[in-house]
Amino acid sequence: MKIHILGAGAGGGFPQWNCACRNCRGVRDGSITARPRTQSSIAVSPDGTDWILVNASPDILQQLRAFPAAWPGPELRGSGLKSIVLVDGQIDHTTGLYMLREHNRRWPVWATGPVYEDLTRGNPILGLLEHYCGVDWQTLPFDSRPFAPQGSGRLAWHALPLSSAAPPYSPHRNAPSAGDNIGLTVIDPETGGRLFYAPGLAEISPAVRAEMEAADCVLVDGTFWTDDEMIRLGFSTKLGSEIGHMAQSGPGGMIAQLNRLPRRNRRILIHINNTNPILDEASPERALLDAAGIEVAYDGMEITL
Ligand code: MLT
Ligand code: MN
Ligand code: ZN
Repeated sequence: MKIHILGAGAGGGFPQWNCACRNCRGVRDGSITARPRTQSSIAVSPDGTDWILVNASPDILQQLRAFPAAWPGPELRGSGLKSIVLVDGQIDHTTGLYMLREHNRRWPVWATGPVYEDLTRGNPILGLLEHYCGVDWQTLPFDSRPFAPQGSGRLAWHALPLSSAAPPYSPHRNAPSAGDNIGLTVIDPETGGRLFYAPGLAEISPAVRAEMEAADCVLVDGTFWTDDEMIRLGFSTKLGSEIGHMAQSGPGGMIAQLNRLPRRNRRILIHINNTNPILDEASPERALLDAAGIEVAYDGMEITL
């Protein structure tokens, strides 16, 4: 299976349009060594021809321009993207659906019941798309039952509920509902390759831990270095953990969790917020990740499993 990182940034991307934090300033004026990153999305393929889009970010058009495998042809209108899977209803994971409205057929969109509810009520984008290409909602089971998004061929997918957070617009924001956020496992029975993907992860439950240990590659929440990162910068009154993202540093943080995985397991952080010091490739925080064998995803990164 092939995995293509379309966007490795968190909501807002890097640099964020209205942000003058050290990282955003630094990447604009070249005073730090860092790559810009678009917002959170990946694509998965069994063969490099048919792709499943996992999350549709507001930056999807820019991401697809840079991704020839998804370009149309030989038909006059078409795409290598065959279906869409959503891990939650967050703005950075769903707004790209608007940009995909010119599709020449209805989009199969896989989402859990609670996410479908949010995308037809709090943010009724799926209903609105009926006036364009239309969407066929596919119920995404999140109890580890297998499902098969269109285009995935032999690949076997399953999902489990995560402790993270529903979007700010959601009626579930302060009353979490199982299935607001999911982690995805994708298995290639031909190669034995196994991916675990969870860009929003507030807590690693025993079930999540088991999925991570079983995977050859984990692509997990890299939003914040410290839990109070946004508070210390004066950008928010909320901790990262309160909005569904566990920090990397500290006891029990993501680094400690990843260090406990079997050595064969490739560990990659994704959904990196623009405030996170690991974006500066010369930072001590980045050196710490390097020493631990933890990678930081970037736009255009390719993984073969
Ligand atoms: C998140 O991951 O917490 C959200 O995508 C934040 C946002 O809406 O920008
Ligand atoms: Mn996000
Ligand atoms: Zn910033």
